Amino acid sequence: MSLPAKVKMVEVGPRDGLQNEKQEISVATRVALVDRLSAAGLPVIEAGSFVSPKWVPQMAASEEVLAAIERRPGITYSALTPNMKGYERALQARADEVAVFGAASESFTQKNINCSIAESLERFRPLLEQARADGIRVRGYVSCVLGCPYEGDIAPEKVAEVSAALLQMGCYEISLGDTIGVGTPEAARKMVETVAACVPMEKLAVHFHDTYGQALANIYAALQAGVTVVDSAVAGLGGCPYARGASGNVASEDVLYMLNGLDIDTGVDLHKLVAAGNFISAELGRESNSRVARAITG
Ligand code: HMG
Ligand code: MG
Repeated sequence: MSLPAKVKMVEVGPRDGLQNEKQEISVATRVALVDRLSAAGLPVIEAGSFVSPKWVPQMAASEEVLAAIERRPGITYSALTPNMKGYERALQARADEVAVFGAASESFTQKNINCSIAESLERFRPLLEQARADGIRVRGYVSCVLGCPYEGDIAPEKVAEVSAALLQMGCYEISLGDTIGVGTPEAARKMVETVAACVPMEKLAVHFHDTYGQALANIYAALQAGVTVVDSAVAGLGGCPYARGASGNVASEDVLYMLNGLDIDTGVDLHKLVAAGNFISAELGRESNSRVARAITG
């Protein structure tokens, strides 16, 4: 099976990574992380989240982060927005792009954003209409695509249904999230192919958490199926506060090392990326979760 010549890496560390940290992280550290990531050449950086600060305290002050980062030309600085209030905050903060987030599981949707799947889609509709009027692109996340912490197995058809609804509403890209990292390559391939029957393959991204050490294998299967957009978090930061057992995202350094080895172009500099990951790991006072970073750093 053929592999793509080029992959877009979407860096979610400053959001999906840091949102789950127990310790306090200063705005200055968040800004320094984003600036190091942009220096490494990552084309899209999820820099913050405009959700309720009561629900996710680590993402409070995302306005201040977006105000202080260096805006490098050609790089998209995005943010998560659950509702109109979040969208307005993101717009005010000059996010280049926003993301709405739904799930293929009813229970997870309820725990994560306090409503049903149908209600979540209705909440996103005015946001997407406003974003279209403002010329802001909206990404759509679907969580729990290969399993749910509350419901167990998830049917690929359900993932396809929610993905198609987000596409129809105007999302330009759909990121398929294995939130708890339970997927394996054949399941991932089947899920991607099922969704691709409703959403063009070039609009699909994959978002793997590495809880069970399957993320790189799953990404490889998704690339073989035709996916060309991959989410990851530097130093393997992360986890979702509403999904017990959701450990870190796949590490960006590990994804990049694999893509380099496959001769797939990303435009990202591995050594600068490792430096960014080592910076945030030192700030958090622990070893990086990236195997590649540990091997290179020694
Ligand atoms: P709710 O309590 O049902 O909403 O929360 P509400 O409309 O009743 O509002 C309650 C309070 O929140 C009000 O304040 C609102 O003003 C405020 P009060 O009157 O009590 O003082 N509020 C806000 N404040 C700031 N910004 C906002 C906002 N909205 C309401 N945007 C809500 C509903 C969606 C807001 C809440 O459930 C929430 O913020 N959830 C956050 C969930 C979250 O961030 N989860 C993690 C990200 S998802 C993820 O990690 C998965 C992903 O990575 C993919 C994958 O891995 O699969 C994307
Ligand atoms: Mg995630």
